[in-house]
Amino acid sequence: EKGEYRHYMQKEIFEQPAAIQKTLEGRIDSPASLIDAFGEKAPAIFDRVKTVQIVACGTSYHAGMVARYWLEDIAGIPCQVEVASEFRYRNHVVPEGTLFVTISQSGETADTLAALRDTQSPNYVGRLAICNVDSSSLVRESELVFLTKAGPEIGVASTKAFTTQLTGLLMLVLTLGRQKGLDDARIEGILGELRQLPNLIEQVSALDKPIEKLSEAFVEKHHTLFLGRGVQFPVALEGALKLKEISYIHAEAYPAGELKHGPLALVDSDMPVVSVAPNDELLEKLKSNLQEVRARGGELYVFADKNAHVKEGEGIHVLNMPAVPETIAPIVYTVPLQLLSYHVAVLRGTDVDQPRNLAKSVTVE
Ligand code: F6R
Repeated sequence: EKGEYRHYMQKEIFEQPAAIQKTLEGRIDSPASLIDAFGEKAPAIFDRVKTVQIVACGTSYHAGMVARYWLEDIAGIPCQVEVASEFRYRNHVVPEGTLFVTISQSGETADTLAALRDTQSPNYVGRLAICNVDSSSLVRESELVFLTKAGPEIGVASTKAFTTQLTGLLMLVLTLGRQKGLDDARIEGILGELRQLPNLIEQVSALDKPIEKLSEAFVEKHHTLFLGRGVQFPVALEGALKLKEISYIHAEAYPAGELKHGPLALVDSDMPVVSVAPNDELLEKLKSNLQEVRARGGELYVFADKNAHVKEGEGIHVLNMPAVPETIAPIVYTVPLQLLSYHVAVLRGTDVDQPRNLAKSVTVE
């Protein structure tokens, strides 16, 4: 039931602190116990992992892209990510010691399932499903499973499934990293960040009203550009996907460093540009990309860490985010973009929970 909420999507956005809490519960007591969340076979299989291949579709694919940044940065494990509809139809090389990971809310997505069923190569050491539905085909057919505990997701646009997938993927990175010698002090540090996550998302949800106000600027627009750098690039992609699917405004995401290689030509006063600016090592580079946009007359909407000192000004609208620890930042910065899309869609009067032409579970290719 929707209860006090107008739409399931809105309810599901606000359920994220609880959904993440459930996904973490009883699983992050210590670095050594993390592995228990992946099933009995995990210790033997994870021991043999040298590289990771992630396959998924849509929003779940974006979760995989974030995981790649984490896996290579934190655990030092090479990782490839691909959309299932491409992966299954091309000849690909499987390096020895590959862990095959699928990510799916429903566990019934046809292309993702087909990719899983096609993993005969002896170079795969195991198949792990990160999934929200216990009884799904994907879960039944994978020897390793991590269940996200988001609860039923009814809105077609995925929200709490995505942030719980990211939570599970970060736990996977720590677990695999530990097998590869990542020290427990570093793992404890990131577990500490994960414990803060529900509370931080709660704080960001409180920005709902100012985001609703901001959304008015998008209602009449035909296009929007989303920018992010590093691990925030997939967050920008996910922001753009949310906006297009529920508001029908054309949206694209670029890694901010690519702007001058083409998309900058699109920027004028009719092209709002949304950016996420956490306080990380790429902040200064991002700020200069934002200047490039502003110089072409683009209106900027920046979700910025309150310590990042991104200044409000003519054509620069800043929404201050709480200080967020670096590793979990992509999870936290997803939320304001969900709220933005939601409010734009409501103002445009679209069918938020059931956007045209889309189905919740894509069981045909
Ligand atoms: C976007 C969305 C879709 C799904 C995609 C994969 O909001 O919901 O892009 O993410 O169809 O679905 P699952 O995760 O069920 O495999």
